[in-house]
Amino acid sequence: MDRIGVYTSGGDAPGMNACVRAVVRTAINNGIKVTGIRRGYEGMIEDDMVNMTSRSVANILQLGGTILKTARCEEFRTPEGRSKAMENLKARGIEALVCIGGNGSYAGALALSQEYGIPCIGIPGTIDNDLYGTDFTIGYDTAINTALDAIDKIRDTADSHNRVFIVEVMGRDAGFIGLDVGIAGGAEGIVIPEDRDDVEKIMRHFNRGDKRSKSFSIIIVAEGDEIGGSQELTERLRTLHPDLDIRTTVLGHIQRGGSPTARDRILASRLGYEAVHGLMKGLKDVAVGIINGSPNYTPFDTAITNTKSVNYELVRMAEVLAR
Ligand code: F6P
Repeated sequence: MDRIGVYTSGGDAPGMNACVRAVVRTAINNGIKVTGIRRGYEGMIEDDMVNMTSRSVANILQLGGTILKTARCEEFRTPEGRSKAMENLKARGIEALVCIGGNGSYAGALALSQEYGIPCIGIPGTIDNDLYGTDFTIGYDTAINTALDAIDKIRDTADSHNRVFIVEVMGRDAGFIGLDVGIAGGAEGIVIPEDRDDVEKIMRHFNRGDKRSKSFSIIIVAEGDEIGGSQELTERLRTLHPDLDIRTTVLGHIQRGGSPTARDRILASRLGYEAVHGLMKGLKDVAVGIINGSPNYTPFDTAITNTKSVNYELVRMAEVLAR
């Protein structure tokens, strides 16, 4: 393997830069050249690529976002788009790919590999933590700490005004952020897609007049919940309990930015290092992850088709601790 390409794709996540740095330096240390592909699959199609050295990844470990930029690319979903991308990769002598992103990014890499035989390895990068084959994804730890900081602040004002706050966190299809942030933030209610009874539980909580001595409430809702999000939950609660003083906050993309936590930097560094070693061992079409502290490789199709589950015991624990 003379040269590999590395790119970030889909939603950015804090720690992606630490991962790019690890991929570039591990490869170079093993005599492999690296091309950085800018803007993910879009840059692959438009030949937006740059040769990287150890110095081009200096001083990026602590930066949020991604220096390689990222995109969600519709054209790459077509065989014509992938054919253009492959021509560019060939012309630049790129023999294997490291893809840092989520499920959609893995699917793109797998399609390219199946059609053209180029070996690809995926690294889980998304704040949602919803990828199979790893305990944690790059960016998740930073995102939950960012959300938690905001919730602690909301708690101050909620307490002062005796209000109910409905706080929406990210998580397109999954409740990992919602559950962990709800537990760490001491929320009275957690509404996530994995729990079908959660909204009813919250309604029962207010029906019982279960506010007891508590003067305020924080309810966390994952954007991906089937109720539709914080606005819908607010309307439902307001209709049933017009007496409550309710406010709604959407944390949104704040959760995607910021300097990565130590945990995310270390995770990203390990995954980047292991991905290059995986390619050197001849692995292809797998996603690297860390499970119970050890590196692990999951075939792309397994990683794409399986869903990682939240810990339901934690859902029950959160209910008990909120009373
Ligand atoms: O997948 C990460 C994520 O931040 C989700 O939590 C969210 O639903 C989505 O990306 C938002 O994507 P975009 O920035 O493209 O609107």
